[in-house]
Amino acid sequence: METNFIEDMLAENLKALRPYVSKNNIEAYRILNCPFGIPVAVDIYKDNAVIHVFDVLDEDIRKTLEESLKKVVGAQWFFYKNRTKGDIQLPKSAPKEIIINEYGNKFLINLSDYKDTGIFLDHRETRKWIASKSLGKAVLNTFAYTGSFSVYAAKGGAKLTHSVDLSKTYCEWTKKNFELNKMDLKQNWVLKMDTREYFKYARKKHLAFDIIIIDPPTFSRNKGASFSVQKDHPELINEALSLLTPDGFILFSNNYTEFSLQENKLNPCEARQKFGTLPPDFEETQAHQCFIITSRRSGY
Ligand SMILES: C[S@@+](CC[C@H](N)C(=O)[O-])C[C@H]1O[C@@H](n2cnc3c(N)ncnc32)[C@H](O)[C@@H]1O
Repeated sequence: METNFIEDMLAENLKALRPYVSKNNIEAYRILNCPFGIPVAVDIYKDNAVIHVFDVLDEDIRKTLEESLKKVVGAQWFFYKNRTKGDIQLPKSAPKEIIINEYGNKFLINLSDYKDTGIFLDHRETRKWIASKSLGKAVLNTFAYTGSFSVYAAKGGAKLTHSVDLSKTYCEWTKKNFELNKMDLKQNWVLKMDTREYFKYARKKHLAFDIIIIDPPTFSRNKGASFSVQKDHPELINEALSLLTPDGFILFSNNYTEFSLQENKLNPCEARQKFGTLPPDFEETQAHQCFIITSRRSGY
């Protein structure tokens, strides 16, 4: 009964997504999103399934899910991510890295070792949009993680990119992603830095950018200093406005469901929400929200 239900859901979702993923050379996509109270979301990376678990998962349902994923999607390997606040028992998996393709761009994916795999699938269409705006532009990607926005910008013809992240691991990963895409690190700088420190550095060096991407975590901590997107976004956006070329724009995104943009704390600018950035496999979710911020009226 359950088997049929999960299999049917998978088959239906796969049928709906197949034209989109095959046409666009997309090898990683979400196939299941908490169907009917089952607390799991499943992402497919080639023949691997990453299963995000949001609550205690019945063992029979877990086994059924694996069987159905094998049968319908051809998944052979399973990687579980505990998304609960507690400690729940989930199967362990062997270390595994793969390379996936997305709109002709390649990314190194680590399926086993971290909470996240190296790419945020819900931002696939936002990345594509950034690529379409990047020709000849100077692009700054803050909170860059593994640099996927920067790779798209570089492939879209950016004259230079700066990718800024606190984590040495993610900075090294960003470099590998540039190398995978045969992009030169001379035009594509990767800076291991706190974003706020970087803003100070960039102002001192009189740097200016046409596109600034700010996609921070909801909360983070660095050397005792805490960051909260709700509290700190006006300061970040104001700093970024001071580095923006007159025709440039800031893409500000976050995944805090309670987020509200505090326009009254922003320096003179125009801010508007950008809709339509969720890809078909995340359409039903509130995976992120995006805003475009310009220092004066523009066509974006
Ligand atoms: C939500 S991820 C960003 C996702 C990324 N924009 C993407 O689309 O791939 C958050 C990243 O911010 C980095 N980070 C957290 N606090 C930071 C800070 N104060 N300065 C720079 N990077 C920071 C983390 O290391 C992590 O890589």
